[in-house]
Amino acid sequence: MNEIAQPKTSIILFGATGDLAKRKLYPSIYSLFLSGKLSKNFVVIGAARREWSDEELRENVKKSIVESKYSSDKVDEFCQHFYYLPFDVTNTESYSQLKDKLNQLELAYGIPGNRIYYMAMAPQFFGTIAIQLKREGVTQSEGWNRLVIEKPFGHDLPSAQKLNNEIREAFSEDQIYRIDHYLGKEMVQNIEVIRFANAIFEPLWNNRHISNIQITSSEVLGVEERGGYYETSGALRDMVQNHLLQMVLLLSMDPPIRLATNEVRSEKIKVLRAIRAISSEEMENYFVRGQYRAGELSGLQVPGYREEKNVEKKSSTETFVAGKLMIDNHRWAGVPFYVRTGKRMSVKSTKIVVQFKDLPLNVYTQKSRDRKIHPNLLVIHIQPDEGITLILNGKKVGLLGETVPVDLEFKHSSIDGVNTPEAYERLIYDCMLGDATNFAHWDEVNLSWALIDPISQAWAESTQEIDTYAAGTMGPEASDLLLEKDGFKWWSLKDL
Ligand code: BG6
Repeated sequence: MNEIAQPKTSIILFGATGDLAKRKLYPSIYSLFLSGKLSKNFVVIGAARREWSDEELRENVKKSIVESKYSSDKVDEFCQHFYYLPFDVTNTESYSQLKDKLNQLELAYGIPGNRIYYMAMAPQFFGTIAIQLKREGVTQSEGWNRLVIEKPFGHDLPSAQKLNNEIREAFSEDQIYRIDHYLGKEMVQNIEVIRFANAIFEPLWNNRHISNIQITSSEVLGVEERGGYYETSGALRDMVQNHLLQMVLLLSMDPPIRLATNEVRSEKIKVLRAIRAISSEEMENYFVRGQYRAGELSGLQVPGYREEKNVEKKSSTETFVAGKLMIDNHRWAGVPFYVRTGKRMSVKSTKIVVQFKDLPLNVYTQKSRDRKIHPNLLVIHIQPDEGITLILNGKKVGLLGETVPVDLEFKHSSIDGVNTPEAYERLIYDCMLGDATNFAHWDEVNLSWALIDPISQAWAESTQEIDTYAAGTMGPEASDLLLEKDGFKWWSLKDL
């Protein structure tokens, strides 16, 4: 059996008192600990503004683990590896304290200076911290130094470029790990396997056989406590620029010659460059937006977006986006990739539907003109279910000449003992191993903002009132019309 690699690592977590750390990062690091991917030689230094002690941090870490899905048997042992440092990002003194603390703890824990700086805090400080880490000599250790950056990576191309220039002053591109947590999801990672490890799909994976691809990531929750951030972001920047586009790339890129980071990245970049830029005049044929108004969800009345905390009463921020992306290359010319995402929709679900073209002649429709045959669909269930369904046609039992769609289904949840790791767990471990494949390269971020900016600009300049949709629905009518114009429809997520 292969031994599990256990890189000896220090993680410096900026934003240790924040929500992401509590909800995702502590449980994920704990799960790595449980599965033997962390040796005894690891420490986590939590850095944040508050004046916490080590004990306070440990109590909080413990609480977040007890509240998570993991068994808390080893939580006390785990927490002993956590230390706290009150940190003022603008004060050089904080950085020299961090350096001393790291040197001292790494000696005690036998860590050869391998350091992950994890930025899980307000994005306006990312650049300052990176620069100061270098200036104050924190990054001058014997081992490797890596920077993990949470989104948002800028809010448009100029701000992303500025941020990138700042962090590049201190870290080289191969030391930077830009998180897109969708790239850590089991079934997102499975897209490549489905495509490149199955002889039956790759020959069909092109415009001769696929009519359109639909990617939906719908949420039931509203903006919750994040109204302030969301007002500056909206669904386009929050979800499409990163998560949805990344899924489009994985679905559309050419097979890489090897599964090496640079090879995969260069295929993704090639396809990103082929995505058609949209001018503001044509925008409404490609992208539509909406904002949720009050409505009913699971029998409860929920407020509209404009009634949420920290949201402008006349806000025109979109909480829903549907769009059509055209990839102008040989493989995909003429095949629309539809993407759709929104808050306060009827179901929490992320699914990809690959719709194959109809047969050139269908003997079953010859007899009666209106007897349509169901198109073949490949459904990739990203969440909450994880698996794939292939929808084929079979004979309707007892009836000659009639067909019925049948599902070939594979779901992880039906396999005993399969508990797929959290996205963050994989990504943190990848970073410890130095594998940046499932992180966004600067070129991807750069090109994706270049694609998104004209859309947000067109919306910002538009004098039209934003379309609305009732909470608990699948978005405004314009989203359905977008597909109807091309002769398609959104496949209902609940039926797939
Ligand atoms: C985040 C967005 O990146 O992704 C959130 O900022 C969104 O607004 C979240 O809710 C969705 O992630 P998931 O994993 O629940 O689909």
